[in-house]
Amino acid sequence: MKRIESFEEYKSAYAESIANPDKFWGEIAESFSWKKKWDTVLSGTFADAKNRWFDGGELNITENLLDRHLAEKGNDVALIWEPNDHSVEYRKFTYTELHKEVCIAAEMLRSLGVKKGDRVCIYMSMVPELVFSVLACARIGAVHSVIFGGFSAKSIADRVDDAEADFVITMDGGLRGNKTIPLKSVVDDALTSTRKIKIVLVFNYLNLPTEKKEVDIDWNELKAEVVSANNYIKAGETLQSEDPLFILYTSGSTGKPKGVVHSTAGYMVWTAYTFLNVFQYEKGDIHFCTADIGWVTGHSYLIYGPLLNGSTSLMFEGIPTYPDAGRFWDIVAKHKVSIFYTAPTAIRSLMSAGDEFLERKDLSSLRILGSVGEPINEEAWNWYHDKIGKGNCPVVDTFWQTETGGVMISSLAGVTPSKPVFATLPMPGVLPVLLDDKGKEILENDLTGNLCFKQSWPSMIRTTYGDHERCILNYFSTYKNYYFTGDGAYRDENGMYRLAGRVDDVLNVSGHRIGTAEVENAINHTHGVIESAVVGYPHDIKGQGIYAFVICDAHAKSLNATQDSSKDANALQDSSKDVAQDASRDASQGFEQEMVYSITKTVSEQIGAIAKPDKIVIVNGLPKTRSGKIMRRILRKIAEGEFDAIGDTTTLLDPSVVQEIIYKTK
Ligand code: WT7
Repeated sequence: MKRIESFEEYKSAYAESIANPDKFWGEIAESFSWKKKWDTVLSGTFADAKNRWFDGGELNITENLLDRHLAEKGNDVALIWEPNDHSVEYRKFTYTELHKEVCIAAEMLRSLGVKKGDRVCIYMSMVPELVFSVLACARIGAVHSVIFGGFSAKSIADRVDDAEADFVITMDGGLRGNKTIPLKSVVDDALTSTRKIKIVLVFNYLNLPTEKKEVDIDWNELKAEVVSANNYIKAGETLQSEDPLFILYTSGSTGKPKGVVHSTAGYMVWTAYTFLNVFQYEKGDIHFCTADIGWVTGHSYLIYGPLLNGSTSLMFEGIPTYPDAGRFWDIVAKHKVSIFYTAPTAIRSLMSAGDEFLERKDLSSLRILGSVGEPINEEAWNWYHDKIGKGNCPVVDTFWQTETGGVMISSLAGVTPSKPVFATLPMPGVLPVLLDDKGKEILENDLTGNLCFKQSWPSMIRTTYGDHERCILNYFSTYKNYYFTGDGAYRDENGMYRLAGRVDDVLNVSGHRIGTAEVENAINHTHGVIESAVVGYPHDIKGQGIYAFVICDAHAKSLNATQDSSKDANALQDSSKDVAQDASRDASQGFEQEMVYSITKTVSEQIGAIAKPDKIVIVNGLPKTRSGKIMRRILRKIAEGEFDAIGDTTTLLDPSVVQEIIYKTK
């Protein structure tokens, strides 16, 4: 694979990729090792969301990221693991060692009856065994579905059932800062309500007391058996190009997360190609992607992209603020990190911790900085560029999604022009368009529209597991013959893109994607809740915060009297009414606090702590149209505190609710 090294080269690669994708990607795919060469490069259309890449080809992705490097790079470090605690020794694995670990883990899974095509759910924290597990699945052709370690038992159960998984891999517990996360007991809890699982493979990491279930197999014991039998180095299973590699659940605008399915060959080519070009990878680079492997960034740019290129990938077990807000910079100095890839949330939070955490940290090894997951604001961009990069490191703002598999719009570090807060230009093979609300392509520049892609790219979503119609409906129906991202974007006079946030009911909280409907569903499980509406609002650190407006049963009853008197929107202007409202507010405050507490707890149980609302307001009514649709636009304005910008409320069934909600939020 040849790296793009000048803006001219980018322009010609881009032109060729659009004019002749078959030739372009066919040549790139030649640099991988195939068990059988493909028959066609690209086939299928967007209409039924059945695009196929490298059809007829056969391969194993782990042979491409491990075996292929052994001869020349066997002694190079593939993986560095930096533990949660400073005092614990870090671990590193050369390509030869990682290959061995993956073969052992693959043999362990094989011995437990895991076969090609089986789905394996993985619920672990950031330890090397998580990487071994993921790659062991890929080695034997099992489909991995990693579940982020912060998700609740209920979320695990939903995913295990939806993925029809028979196998789960977990560990007793994980470490995050000063917390111990009891992963195994969460899994135990989850599995009380799922389909019957055949095996739970448990890696004992911390020696936590856990309950031994019938289906449990001890990782360490099984590993010892496999190692002593000494028969574990085996070729990877042969997979078809379009065989699924993994499922990763992500939130959409409906209540239920979707299982995004990625295929083998297209994903391999895309993650390898984008890693090489976006980060301008060079031999000797130490690449530190701070994302958890529970998210797609961890899949594509901690595991697959770097290893496919024979790079050194650094994985960190802990959190950026433990033991203090200088931890990332200590890691950079300790391991001489050259490429650093993180999310704007982390940048903002470390920026707000103060520059004293940067003092005396040797960041001179840094060459390239990356940002991912959410729009980066100018202040954070400048701090990142000036204080972390010392003005010497190009910053790549990479736009992509779980569904796209890898980076779609980004500059190539130091090679194509960059512009603060702009993701800039599309990768070769990516044809972005902006559509207006009628679905017409906006051809001019200096305009904003709905961001779509017009041409298939190798790592695009193949289906939503178990429900292909849903895939078509979600991504290919809003605008016929286009893939719709759900994002709005602005294009400047030079054709550079700046992302403008989601235009659907999806929130981006600390770079984590959460559907408003999903949070509402969770809230509505709380005893005493009748209805809720969730919107996002700007949050200094998290990017977006979660704001919930909730109608409760008992509350509605206890406030019946005042509700009647406040029917008229103007009634609240009257000071005597204010007094009446205040009195009832005092009386209901204890109840409201209790409700807020139990709503928060329920959301943690239903989804996980990441989805806990930042603000919860108990209200008597929600702004609904006559047809019963909640007008979120109004709630968003209220959540933003823009009470004067609420606009027309005359189409509401009961306009007075707006005044009440404003009153409660103040
Ligand atoms: C959504 C996808 C990309 C992997 C991690 C998140 C937002 C992502 C950017 C960026 C502005 C961004 C979009 C997108 N997003 N990258 N550089 N600038 N917004 O993957 O969880 O699937 O979320 O994250 O809104 O649709 P995800």
